[in-house]
Amino acid sequence: MTLAAAFRHLALALTAPLLTASVAAAETVPLSIDASKPGAKIDRNLFGQFAEHLGHGVYEGVWVGPDSQIPNTRCIRNDVVAALKALRVANVRWPGGCFADEYHWRKGIGPRRAVTLNPNWGGVTESNAFGTHEFMDFIDQIGSEAYVSVNVGSGTPQEAAEWLEYLTTDQPTTLAQERAANGHTAPYRIAFLGIGNESWDCGGNMTPEYYLSQLKAYSRFVRNFNPAQQQVGRRMLKIAVGPGGDGPRWTEWTEAIMKAWQARSWSWDIDGLSMHNYTVVKWPPAYKSVGFGETEYAEILKSTLEMDRLIATHSAIMDRYDPQKKVALVVDEWGGWYAPLPGTNPGFLAQQNSLRDAILAALNLNIFARHADRVRGANIAQMINVLQAMVLTDREKMVLTPTYHVFRMYVPFQDATFVPVSFSAGFYTHGDVALPRLDAIAAKDAAGKLHVAITNVDPNAAADIELSVAGIRAKAAAGETLTAAKVDSVNSFDAPGTVVPRPVSATARDGKIMLRLQPKSVTVIAVE
Ligand code: AHR
Repeated sequence: MTLAAAFRHLALALTAPLLTASVAAAETVPLSIDASKPGAKIDRNLFGQFAEHLGHGVYEGVWVGPDSQIPNTRCIRNDVVAALKALRVANVRWPGGCFADEYHWRKGIGPRRAVTLNPNWGGVTESNAFGTHEFMDFIDQIGSEAYVSVNVGSGTPQEAAEWLEYLTTDQPTTLAQERAANGHTAPYRIAFLGIGNESWDCGGNMTPEYYLSQLKAYSRFVRNFNPAQQQVGRRMLKIAVGPGGDGPRWTEWTEAIMKAWQARSWSWDIDGLSMHNYTVVKWPPAYKSVGFGETEYAEILKSTLEMDRLIATHSAIMDRYDPQKKVALVVDEWGGWYAPLPGTNPGFLAQQNSLRDAILAALNLNIFARHADRVRGANIAQMINVLQAMVLTDREKMVLTPTYHVFRMYVPFQDATFVPVSFSAGFYTHGDVALPRLDAIAAKDAAGKLHVAITNVDPNAAADIELSVAGIRAKAAAGETLTAAKVDSVNSFDAPGTVVPRPVSATARDGKIMLRLQPKSVTVIAVE
């Protein structure tokens, strides 16, 4: 059952006697997979990351400088690189966020770097020690690809065009020579180009019409002339600023960009439309990232499921102008955004990361997978030490978050083919919040292996499932499950193993897999 269908069903269920939560919890839930009906490819770029110059996301989280005792390679932390490699990070979006529209790339190259300001995020200084070459080195070390956002708000098409030439040209231009003099003779590869960030707000408070005039100029002039980066499947993809929330302001924005795209001339084009959607419930972010109970757990998860409706709304607009789905919807900022941790600079957006966030991540990744025909990129905010991070650091210490573990468990879904899974598991209710009790996706990888991810949202009741694959007698299943004692359990530097995945295996009965899902858990299994 899709989430939208689940909510329709919920409306009926809530008018009927209150039966679902307790009754369903005791029953075995049949899950049926039909691998003969493949859907879209679950693009590996749905598992992208976002690293803005914000708080300790880059400085300390990635970059420790030349005098650090923390083991590093060219000033980039070895522990963080090793952790991220295991996630097979598809791409990293950089340098912002709001920072991108105040970033001037020339300040971040060469032997002498200007010290500038970071007015958006804590009003601190920006050393520019981590610039173009350092970012590309980092990308290379973790085995990822670059998603560079250029400055539309306070920059010019010429500044951005020169950055692209500096990065990518294979011709002996003056900028290429400067790149070589700064240590990199070979051209860098840029996989994605973001044309502005939230141009409707921190990126310049533009109207759709004004942004469109900027977009056309940037799309025309900020080009990648390297032939190797123009080939089919290797072409640099241009992402326009898209909607940032719910309501007419955002549907009108999508409508304006897509209408203009449909009527485009040869001189400009885009490959993607970005969408930002944080799970925040109300502004400013007030929910705690640790030290909360079931009410906050249920409310945050209810809010996060709004992602499905938002994607459906904007996809429907895009479908009208682009029925062939040439333009991807790229959710390049998403995740839980909570109150800053007490004692931290509020502009650093530091928060803990709990089991609730692991479940939130799984629910969103499932939503993206179900919309994989249109949603072909997503970047969780943010990679390290900021918002819903993969990794937290404190000087030489590093800890992997529950969200990290979900991203690691979901690696088999990267570029796998979506296959439908149907089930009806009833609802978990708490107060006036009712949520689909289970969520699941399934996909086949390139080797034909079937992977299933199942989330038990209910924090109080285990769920027994009976998994059947149409036309196949399953023999066994094995994988990992992630849960913990409490909904707000976290990994700390002193107790890094509080929320970690444990192996899980199941045997088959009559060709069906029988599995018990722990309360508030995420489980990923491969079916034999
Ligand atoms: O991720 C933090 C900020 O959230 C980004 O800089 C901005 O794009 C968004 O508003």
